[in-house]
Amino acid sequence: MTPLLVVLGTGGTIAGRSASAADNVGYKAGEVPVSELLGDVPVPAGFSVEAEQVAQIDSKDMSDVVWRQLLAAVHRHLQRPEVHGLVITHGTDTLEETAYLLQRVLNPAKPVVLVSAMRPASAALRDGPQNLADGLQLAATDGARGVLAVCAGRVHAALHVRKTHNYLLDAFDSGDAGPVAVLEEGRLTCWQAWPSTPELWEPALLDRLLQEADWPRVEWVTNHGGQTGAIVRALLLQHQAGTEPRTLRGLVVAGTGNGTLHNELQAALVAGQAAGMTVRRSTRCANGRVIEGAQSPIPATPLPPAKARVELMLQLL
Ligand code: SIN
Repeated sequence: MTPLLVVLGTGGTIAGRSASAADNVGYKAGEVPVSELLGDVPVPAGFSVEAEQVAQIDSKDMSDVVWRQLLAAVHRHLQRPEVHGLVITHGTDTLEETAYLLQRVLNPAKPVVLVSAMRPASAALRDGPQNLADGLQLAATDGARGVLAVCAGRVHAALHVRKTHNYLLDAFDSGDAGPVAVLEEGRLTCWQAWPSTPELWEPALLDRLLQEADWPRVEWVTNHGGQTGAIVRALLLQHQAGTEPRTLRGLVVAGTGNGTLHNELQAALVAGQAAGMTVRRSTRCANGRVIEGAQSPIPATPLPPAKARVELMLQLL
C-alpha cells in the first residue's frame, strides 16, 4: 500500500488571487483550488497525494460551521490506515485558533500540518509553494505527530503558535516555548518532542462538537486605558433581553500586563458572572501568560486570548 498524504484546502492567502503578479496585499483570499496549489510542489518520494476542498474562505471569516466540517474531515482521514499524515492549507489570520482546536480535540497520533502563506498564489515572489512543500515533508516524516504549523521554515506546535507579524513572510512565533523544529533546504532539525497532549484529550468531545448545531458563544474583550466597561454592560443587556439568536455564554478578557483589569471593566465582568456568564482572564501581552496570585474575582487562564476563547467554548460545551 503506497502511503498517502491528504491535503485539505480551506482557503487563505496561500490560495489568494490578485489581478497583478506584483500585488502582495490587494488580493482576494481563498480563490485558487487546493488541487491547483499542489501543481507547484514536489511530492515526497514514495508517497501519493490526495486533495479535498473542505472550504474556500478568508480565515478572518472562520466560523463554527467551517471548523465542524474541518474536524469531521481531519478525523475521517486520520482513521484511514493508508494515510501517513495530513496537510491543511489555511489563512494565517486565525490559524492559531484552528490549530488549538484540532490539537485539543483530536490529539492526533499522525502529523497534521497547517500550511499558510503571506503572499497570494498569484504573486510573482510567492511563499506558498515552499511552505506547502515543507508541510508535505513534515506530513511524510516518520515519527512526527500532533498538530503543527510550518511557515518560513519554522515548525510550531499548535498550543504555542501565534501570528505575530501582519506582513513579513516569517509571520508566526511560539513565544517562550520556541519552535518545535526547523526545515532548512529539506533538512529537518528537531528542537523539541512532537506535540502530544493526552492530558487535554476528552474522547467524547469530538462527537459533541460534530453533533451540536450551535457551539457555545464566547466573545473576547480587551482592557485598555479609558476602559469604561460599557461594552460588557451592553453585552449583558443583550444577554438578559435575549435579542441575539445565540445566547452569550462566556467572555475572555485580555487584561493588561499580568491580566490586570480597569476597575470599571472588572465591575462589569463581575456583574456578567452574576448573570451566569463564565469569564476567563488572559493578557494582551504578546508573550508570557497570566500568573495567578493577585486576588481577582475573575479566574485566570494561561492561554493567550484567541486560544482561551476556543478553550472556554469547549469547556462550556
Ligand atoms: C486569511 O487569513 O485567510 C488571509 C490572510 C492570510 O492568509 O495571510
